[in-house]
Amino acid sequence: MSPKEIVVSGIRSTGKLHLGNYFGAIRNYVRMQQSHECFFFVADVHSLTTHPEATSMQENVFRILSECIAAGLDPDQATLFVQSDLPQTLELYAYLNMIAYKGELEKTASFKEKARNQPDNVNAGLLTYPVLMAADILIHRGALVPVGKDQEQHLEMTRNLAVRFNHKYGDFFPEPRAFNFGEPLVKIGSLDGSGKMSKSENALSTIFLSDPDDQILKKVKKAMTDEGPQKPGTPMPPYIQNLFQLLELFSEKTVVAAFREDYDQCRIRYGDLKQQLARDMTAFIGPIREKAAALQADRPFLNRIMKQGAEKAGSSAGATIREVRRRIGFNYGPGDQDGSVR
Ligand code: ADP
Ligand code: TRP
Repeated sequence: MSPKEIVVSGIRSTGKLHLGNYFGAIRNYVRMQQSHECFFFVADVHSLTTHPEATSMQENVFRILSECIAAGLDPDQATLFVQSDLPQTLELYAYLNMIAYKGELEKTASFKEKARNQPDNVNAGLLTYPVLMAADILIHRGALVPVGKDQEQHLEMTRNLAVRFNHKYGDFFPEPRAFNFGEPLVKIGSLDGSGKMSKSENALSTIFLSDPDDQILKKVKKAMTDEGPQKPGTPMPPYIQNLFQLLELFSEKTVVAAFREDYDQCRIRYGDLKQQLARDMTAFIGPIREKAAALQADRPFLNRIMKQGAEKAGSSAGATIREVRRRIGFNYGPGDQDGSVR
């Protein structure tokens, strides 16, 4: 039997998980955890580039672990860990930084956007964010990376760094690619029609996995619409496409088809569509919310998961970093073969 393909993906600990995180990433984590060798982690080091407050760190990390497990991740199938528990990643980050160029990093869309959003804190970590992400993936020699559409450019950077390393030090790393079972990568738009749902912006137009039912209904009701199409064949504006995309994710096929037909016939009632959507969303989110709340209160359980994950991920990362050091030429004596003490 050929070895299982290695899958790596991370979520920053910058707030509560939302529908974008679920449909862009976590749903695929759950689908892949049995058939692949999976490493999923909370990117707490990455969160420091934008959210450096020590006071909220623990709560954020425990919350994301709880919400991922409540949404279906099984820590006994996938390796679930916290980024800062793997010092090997930070070591690889240092080496990859030597083959990453300032010019290419400055061109990254996410860097430009974040630099615009926080002009008083354009830290070097923000610039080298994609290098740390490459280290996260390559430390396990990951080949497949389930992520949402916003991460495409970061993966291109990961591939460039892998190829550059291989060229300099001999073939070692795979060229990882963003993965969504052959479908286009997902982007869940914000309900106000501006940009994407996000943990740290636009909370009133983002549906969180922890939102109570009444809050979900309120947010959906407020979603941007218009007076509806005036003649058959009118193309849907992006904010209406967005509502249909959500309807497709949560509602029965026949229900979606009926609303589509109503749209085509210019008799759509967005109020009805929103009622339906909110009903189907709450039915889906409710059980995840309840389970996550219970898990979040069980710190001993979460600590056990973190420790178990750190051990498994640490052994994979250790093997990679030993080989990386050897290839770079950091093998100075007989005691150095295992990459530990000299
Ligand atoms: P956020 O942008 O909300 O802070 P992260 O950057 O931690 O979330 O992203 C974690 C995962 O969720 C990534 O795979 C990312 O591509 C995905 N993701 C985030 N927002 C969306 C969205 N609106 N639509 C689809 N996928 C998303
Ligand atoms: N940059 C990703 C995001 O903002 C989070 C992340 C960090 C990640 N390291 C990763 C995703 C490694 C996939 C693989 O969503």
